[in-house]
Formats: sequence, C-alpha cells, structure tokens
Amino acid sequence: MATTRRPMVAGNWKMHGTRATARVLGGDVGRRHEDARVELVLCPPLVHVGVVAEALGQSPVALGAQNLARWTDDGAYTGEVSGAMLADMGCRYVLVGHSERRALLGDEDAVVAEKFAAAQAARLLPILCVGETLEEREAGRSLDVVGAQLRAVIDHCGVAALADAVLAYEPVWAIGTGRTAAAEDAQEVHAHLRCLVAEQDAKIAGSLRILYGGSVKPGNAAELFAQADIDGGLIGGASLNAGDFLSIAQAAAQTQSH
Ligand code: 13P
Repeated sequence: MATTRRPMVAGNWKMHGTRATARVLGGDVGRRHEDARVELVLCPPLVHVGVVAEALGQSPVALGAQNLARWTDDGAYTGEVSGAMLADMGCRYVLVGHSERRALLGDEDAVVAEKFAAAQAARLLPILCVGETLEEREAGRSLDVVGAQLRAVIDHCGVAALADAVLAYEPVWAIGTGRTAAAEDAQEVHAHLRCLVAEQDAKIAGSLRILYGGSVKPGNAAELFAQADIDGGLIGGASLNAGDFLSIAQAAAQTQSH
C-alpha cells in the first residue's frame, strides 16, 4: 500500500548530558540534517530544552519533551511542567507513556491518558509509547498489552485525537538491551495497532505514523523501516551520537514510499 505518511525519526536523549553537550549535539543535528523526506525530532532532558531550541535556531528539526504534567492550568504542582510551558519553550512534540515512566514513575494507563489530553490541550503533538515486557511477550500477550495501552487513550480522548498524534511501539525488552525486535515481529504489532485504530476510523489509521523503538542502530534501521507499517523510529542510545542518529534518519528517508 502506498502511503503519504512522512517518516519521522525522534531522538529520546533520556537523562543524559550537560548544557554544553546538549548544545553541541543539538547544533550538530540541526546543521547536518537536510533531507526533507524525513521529519526529525529531538527530545532532550527538560532542563536542556531551551539550550537545544537555541542551538537548533531556524533548523527544520523539531523539538520535543520527554514528559509533561497531567494538569493543564498553572497551580500548586511542585516540580511539574505543563504542556503550555513546553509549547512556550518551542516544543512541538512530547513523549507520553514511555515504558521507563510507566515502570518507574507511576505513569499508569489512566495517567498516560490524562497526559495525552493535556498535551493536546496545549497544542503539542503527543508521541504515545506502548510496549510489552519480556514476560508478556513470552506469554503470547504482546498484542493484548499494546492494544489495552492504546485503548486507554482512545477511551479517554476519542479516536479523533489520534489525528494529531504519533504512536510508538517500544517493546520493553528491546530498550537499551541491544536486542531489537525482528522486523517481522515489530511489523505484526504495528499492523495490529493500525488495525485497532482502523476499526474506529480508517482515515486516521491510514495517516497515523507508528514509530518503532528499541535498540535501533544504523545497522538495523533500514530493515525495520522497510516494513509497511513502520513509519520511522524512536531512538534512545544511538540518538546521543549525531552521526548515528542522522544515518538512522537517512534510512527512514530512503524507505519513504513502501
Ligand atoms: P534505545 O534506542 O536505547 O534502546 O532506547 C529506545 C527508547 O526507549 C527510546 O525512547
């Protein structure tokens, strides 16, 4: 099926770096990215978002955050940062439901759904992350688990909300482990996710970008991105190196029309 989905490659820097390294990495990616076939996004640690925004300047590389508060209005929420504040800093995207936040920081399905809604209330585009653990995969429950994670957001926000969002499938056992999902296994999950959306709205399903994340490297990116329902990647470790990140972006650009 030919699609008009523009591939996206997003870098999740997680909790790495200083202002100085963030400035260099952001500036490097911003200057060297010149292939309009792929959309690039950088998600630095929150405290470095301003520095990276400056380093990117007029570059077409978009800025994203790794998290936001589930509350929309200013108020007594010590330590939290709202979607409106992120938008004000120049963010266009925000990760929601990353597995590290689900596992370590209490972002259960209901919280994820609220954060998704809070992002859209601030006109940010949420990148909703879903993924199963190794135990769940071995029990044959991968499709059920990711389906339930997606459904929690659809139930709260409505399927139409997915028109202004990106989905990311990140199997927990593949994150930071060097163990990537086989391209066909990832494709099976991506197709399932798209199918779930299509049951409610075929048009939105057809245009929804679904990224794969979990040990994506320059050497395995092309095979993953060649799959019909994989529209790019959410990159952790390899996004901390500008050359690796840009070479993954290039792999996405080259597989634009499946
Ligand atoms: P790695 O690419 O380091 O496996 O991380 C993936 C990820 O969690 C991106 O959000």
